[in-house]
Amino acid sequence: MKGIVLAGGTGSRLYPLTRALSKQLLPVYDKPMIYYPLSVLMLGGIKDILVISSPDHLEQFRRLLGDGSRLGLNIDYAAQQRPGGIAEAFLIGADFIGQDQVSLVLGDNIFHGMGFSHLLRSHTRDVDGCVLFGYAVTDPERYGVGEVDASGKLLSVEEKPTAPRSNLAITGLYLYDNDVIEVARGIRSSARGELEITDVNRAYLAEGRARLVDLGRGFTWLDAGTHDSLMHAGQYVQVLEKRQGVRIACLEEIAFRMGLIDADDCYLRGVELAGSGYGEYLMSIAAEAAVRSPGCAYS
Ligand code: G1P
Repeated sequence: MKGIVLAGGTGSRLYPLTRALSKQLLPVYDKPMIYYPLSVLMLGGIKDILVISSPDHLEQFRRLLGDGSRLGLNIDYAAQQRPGGIAEAFLIGADFIGQDQVSLVLGDNIFHGMGFSHLLRSHTRDVDGCVLFGYAVTDPERYGVGEVDASGKLLSVEEKPTAPRSNLAITGLYLYDNDVIEVARGIRSSARGELEITDVNRAYLAEGRARLVDLGRGFTWLDAGTHDSLMHAGQYVQVLEKRQGVRIACLEEIAFRMGLIDADDCYLRGVELAGSGYGEYLMSIAAEAAVRSPGCAYS
């Protein structure tokens, strides 16, 4: 399965923060926002990743993440010339996706919860149709909304409805089979002039090929697209990291724990960031591994 992080848009709800900077590079506590959705794809076992952003910002993402090899990944980049909607990612990324299935994650979405990687991998193994992830919120009118029947079967999807039929927001993580490219080619632009992801999902639903997985109340899903939600997301990460001494969405740690890089690489990534708590953390993880397997270069 291929992965796409969509990190485009103008970020207008965050003006003036995003007048000169990409929204998805703003800090969520101790790391750039894009680390969080990127960690989701990694936890899903995806190694081939396309980052889509506006032409103005692509170079900054490239400087941050390079070709991905430092994380044991292959990262490519593509430009979205103007904010053409989320579903445009499948047209921009058609060659990259090739004959594969694809997982799309929005660059301002933060997912955190026990067992997430297991849940993801159970769904990324083989997708027939599309898999959406729902999350109960108090303000569903801000999101795509899914309606399910008593057995959990998906009945409808709507984009930012004024009178939502449920409180289940559709999160910005979507898994599709390869048909998604043709489906996206077949939908029309909305009144906003954008290719809406909800129209793609509605097409799958009409064919009876859409599923919605409820992430449940023990899980955390946040977006970071407004001043308040950006602040809340940062506070959430700060509270958990300070309390537990572990880091959320630490890409190098995930790469190490998933066997994409070895302990020496993890230590070196920490040295490169020396002077920051983040760098110290990477070095300490690698050092713990050294205690377990003496003979590492830095032990
Ligand atoms: C987009 C989607 C919406 C989804 C949301 C998740 O909305 O259109 O269906 O629920 O992302 O973050 P946007 O944030 O672009 O308004």
